[in-house]
Amino acid sequence: MKLYVLNGPNLNMLGIREPSIYGKQDFNALIQYIKDVCAREDIEVECFQSNHEGVLVDIIQSALGKADGIVINPAAYTHTSVAILDALKAVALPAVEVHLSDVSQRENFRHISYPAMACIAQIKGKGFQGYEEAILLLKEHLKEQA
Ligand code: DQA
Repeated sequence: MKLYVLNGPNLNMLGIREPSIYGKQDFNALIQYIKDVCAREDIEVECFQSNHEGVLVDIIQSALGKADGIVINPAAYTHTSVAILDALKAVALPAVEVHLSDVSQRENFRHISYPAMACIAQIKGKGFQGYEEAILLLKEHLKEQA
C-alpha cells in the first residue's frame, strides 16, 4: 500500500507561522510524524509540499498508477481551487483532506472546501494527529476495497 501526502502553501512555514493556530512544531517534525505513522502501519509514503497550485495539480496527476490513495492538506487552496478538486476527480483515487486547525470555527471563507467534494472524509482541528487519522482511514478504506 502506497500513499501520497501533499501539503499546500505556507505549510512549509509551520513553527514560524501563527503558532497559536498551527502549533510550535515545524514542517520537518510533521513529515517525520507522517513517516513514523506510515512505517508503523507498514505503508509506503511519499511526501510533497508546494506553494503553487499547478504543481499540486501535477503531483495529484502523477499519483495515478503510483499511489493507492492521497492525503491532502491543500491549505489556502482548499477554499479556492476547482483545479485541485478536478485533479482529484480525474485520478479518482481515494483521498482524505486534512486541516491542522478547525476551519469550521474560523473565518467564513474557510468554511468552504472544493477538494473535500472529491474526498472520502475531511479531518480538521486535530493538529498532526489529523494526518494519522487520515492515513488510518485510507488504510481501512483500501483494505475494504481489496
Ligand atoms: C489549513 C487551514 C487553511 O484555511 C489555511 O489557509 C492553511 C492551513 C490548516 O491546516 O488548518 O494554510 O489548511
